[in-house]
Amino acid sequence: MNFRAKTVQESIVETVHIIRPSDLNDAGRLFGGVLMQWIDEVAALVAKRHSQMNVTTASVDNLQFLHGAFQRDVIVIIGKVTHVGHTSMEVKVETYVENTDGKRALINRAFLTLIGLGPDNRPAILPRLILKSEEDRKEWERAEIRRSLRRKQREEGFHFYGE
Ligand SMILES: CC(C)(COP(=O)(O)OP(=O)(O)OC[C@H]1O[C@@H](n2cnc3c(N)ncnc32)[C@H](O)[C@@H]1OP(=O)(O)O)[C@@H](O)C(=O)NCCC(=O)NCCS
Repeated sequence: MNFRAKTVQESIVETVHIIRPSDLNDAGRLFGGVLMQWIDEVAALVAKRHSQMNVTTASVDNLQFLHGAFQRDVIVIIGKVTHVGHTSMEVKVETYVENTDGKRALINRAFLTLIGLGPDNRPAILPRLILKSEEDRKEWERAEIRRSLRRKQREEGFHFYGE
């Protein structure tokens, strides 16, 4: 395993999709489940690049659909690591519709937590994240707040309704 600390930039992933008829729901908009799959794939790629190990998604939160997207729209999805704990990484994924003039409009923002897995398939210690810019440091601080909220929710059994 490679434990070299990495910068945020080293694991950034950007993917592009053109919306096809099979990606649409009955209302003629991009189906939310299709976008969620694309987002999860980007987050997993980011986490794999940072950790250089197998990863699994532990949670998705703050998944906000801000605007719809339609057939033939060009969708750009960008993911980056915002925080690295002992064995978990937070990845922020932003989705845009790109117009023909190259301008991008944000349509979705999501935060995913992915866990690095060792050869025994158990959570494994991750390489550190190098924060180079003020933006990296701000993202880290915001991620720490989300991380503690997530932990509190887990402790309170928030994510297991009815149990
Ligand atoms: C995610 C998983 C590996 C965590 O295993 P675990 O034994 O509970 O792990 P731990 O309690 O040791 O926690 C490991 C890390 O995961 C984090 N974590 C655990 N559950 C989490 C959750 N629901 N949301 C966010 N982070 C979580 C912990 O905070 C910890 O982070 P840290 O090491 O950076 O401090 C385990 O619950 C699992 O395998 N879940 C299924 C994942 C899966 O199949 N995903 C695909 C969905 S189809």
